[in-house]
Amino acid sequence: MYLSEKLKCIWHGGDYNPDQWLDYPEIIEKDIELMKKSGCNVMSVGIFAWSKLEPQEGVFTFEWLDDIINKLYENGIYTILATPSGAMPIWLAEKYPEVKRMAEDGIRNRFGNRHNNCYSSTVCRQKVKTINKKLAERYANHPGVLMWHISNEYNVEDCHCALCRENFKKWLKDKYKTIDNLNNKWWNGFWSHRYEDFSQIEPPGSHGESSSNPLKLEWHRFKNDMLCSFVNDEVEAVKSINPNLPVTTNYMRFFEVDYKKLSDSIDVISWDNYPTWHASENEFDSAVETAMFHSLFNSMKKDKPFMMMESSPSATNWQDVSRLRRPGMHLLSSMQAVAYGSDTVQYFQWRKSRGQSEQFHGAVVGHDNSEDTRVFKDVSKVGEELKKISEIIGSHTENEVAILFDYENVWSLNIAQAYRNKDVNKGFNDVLLKNYGALWQLNIGCDFVFEGDDFSKYKVIIAPMLFMLKSNVKEQIEEYVKNGGIFITTFITGVVDEYALSFFDDECYPLRKILGVKAEETDSLYDGQYNSVKMFGGTYKTEKYCELAYSEGAETIGEYCEDFYKSMPAVTVNNYGKGRAYYVGADFMIDGYMKLYSEIIGSAISKDKVIDSPDNVNITYRYSDDGCYMFIMNFNNEPKQIKLPFEYDILSGELDKDTVAPYGCVILKKNNNMRT
Ligand code: GLA
Ligand code: ZN
Repeated sequence: MYLSEKLKCIWHGGDYNPDQWLDYPEIIEKDIELMKKSGCNVMSVGIFAWSKLEPQEGVFTFEWLDDIINKLYENGIYTILATPSGAMPIWLAEKYPEVKRMAEDGIRNRFGNRHNNCYSSTVCRQKVKTINKKLAERYANHPGVLMWHISNEYNVEDCHCALCRENFKKWLKDKYKTIDNLNNKWWNGFWSHRYEDFSQIEPPGSHGESSSNPLKLEWHRFKNDMLCSFVNDEVEAVKSINPNLPVTTNYMRFFEVDYKKLSDSIDVISWDNYPTWHASENEFDSAVETAMFHSLFNSMKKDKPFMMMESSPSATNWQDVSRLRRPGMHLLSSMQAVAYGSDTVQYFQWRKSRGQSEQFHGAVVGHDNSEDTRVFKDVSKVGEELKKISEIIGSHTENEVAILFDYENVWSLNIAQAYRNKDVNKGFNDVLLKNYGALWQLNIGCDFVFEGDDFSKYKVIIAPMLFMLKSNVKEQIEEYVKNGGIFITTFITGVVDEYALSFFDDECYPLRKILGVKAEETDSLYDGQYNSVKMFGGTYKTEKYCELAYSEGAETIGEYCEDFYKSMPAVTVNNYGKGRAYYVGADFMIDGYMKLYSEIIGSAISKDKVIDSPDNVNITYRYSDDGCYMFIMNFNNEPKQIKLPFEYDILSGELDKDTVAPYGCVILKKNNNMRT
């Protein structure tokens, strides 16, 4: 599967803002010359260009864009065309105040910043629709245009204007039908919170209701739905002209938006990748986090490649510290995206703006307007290397292990008051990273699965901290294990239902039958407090959470070493149907998760795929019909020896190497598919 039949190679390029440089025609010429020199073949154009496209209401000035798209195309560079809703023009904000968001105190925002419109405003939707349609009429059939870039980094947004509040009430009424039903599902007897009518329900806010878990959860779901419907409107407008031109919108590494749900509205997944390379003594944390988000987004449309829509060719300007990329790191970081299923390497930004808040953000071309820079050379090197591996497009990733993920679970963990309140999402993010990180270091490839996906494709499914267990997901898990799947879950799983209500009485401990244990209490540990677990002949340290569980048929494979629950089960396994279900009651350090997963998973998946590698060296694969590409990525600042079934390094053209350079990447091609 390709991103587009028009450009069948790995796409290389970035956000391009010629709209900031229209008074400098020589700069545009220079841009094109440098794009060609750096091996760039695609540019994302017009992302924040609304005021240049429609300087006054109903007055459209597309000539400059005609010129840019044509010039790029004549020079072999394709356009990903943006809809400009990411930043509104001042005429829109002034003439129609309702397009601006309102804070919870009832004060409406002034004009300024970006990503700032109200999703309920019909005027705003209409104006976006108009400009989108105009753009589509003019460019949706242009041979140089590859795809739509819908807006920019959409997020769920708090707007407390009358329109949003009204929509929220309607949304609740549609969902709950009667106020009694809502009161019951929300447990509103608590603190005398029963409502008499839907019209009385206000969004959560610090001067009103700020502690109702179900209200906060539903407000978040509502905001997500509003966002999806706004994006749908945008997509509908551009597709009404050419339904075949694909659309994407760039995602981020946060859990606020349910991107899985948003994916229903778009054709291709893309995301903006800004790792904090060189932030600590080694790159493990950044490499794992980046790989994890590549895997997460790659899993949202499993039959298609994803796009790395943005990355910085050097430093960013907004991270705590703007660290430069060490030699080799830019290429490695770019190849990491490709290794995990991206068919693009794209940047923010092509050229640095001279002024404003992002003037110091890394870019391919800096303020010296020169190609004779370290960064430009790094980017050109990526351009060359991507050309060498262009046969990789059309290949895909394939994994036997998956992590079960639900954005709403993360929101509900965030909202609940319990456990370790001091941690973001009660520590979920760290636990997820540790789980994924253990697999990463073991070179066990891992997808993500979502509710409703086909679980049976996977040999192993891991569900870390699945606090909110939806009834349909519970059924899917049950079916999966019954039919022979290996299921692994952890502490703080199966606590509340989809309404954030605790499971009760017979329904309590909903996975008890499958797991063969009753996890009765959760001990949250302060920082610096630890326990340890004896398992597989060793002792492994645990932190943050220890659950007290009682076996109801499961076999104990790890037990606590300390505290009043010493000798109680910490890790168990239960045979259920044709499968097995593991329960991990304590939060291990990474070595504990690695031990667990090498024991539990190592024997369950295809042996020939899992190869040992030195610390911070990661191996992953892309498969095609006639072969397999193996990426060996060294995230150490020193060379690493690794014994591999070497065939042919398609980057260096060499045979039989066994050393991977500092921050180096080797891509081996095997002509016989390794699966057979
Ligand atoms: C985001 C945005 C870009 C730019 C970059 C800077 O990804 O989409 O417009 O602000 O951040 O890193
Ligand atoms: Zn609003």
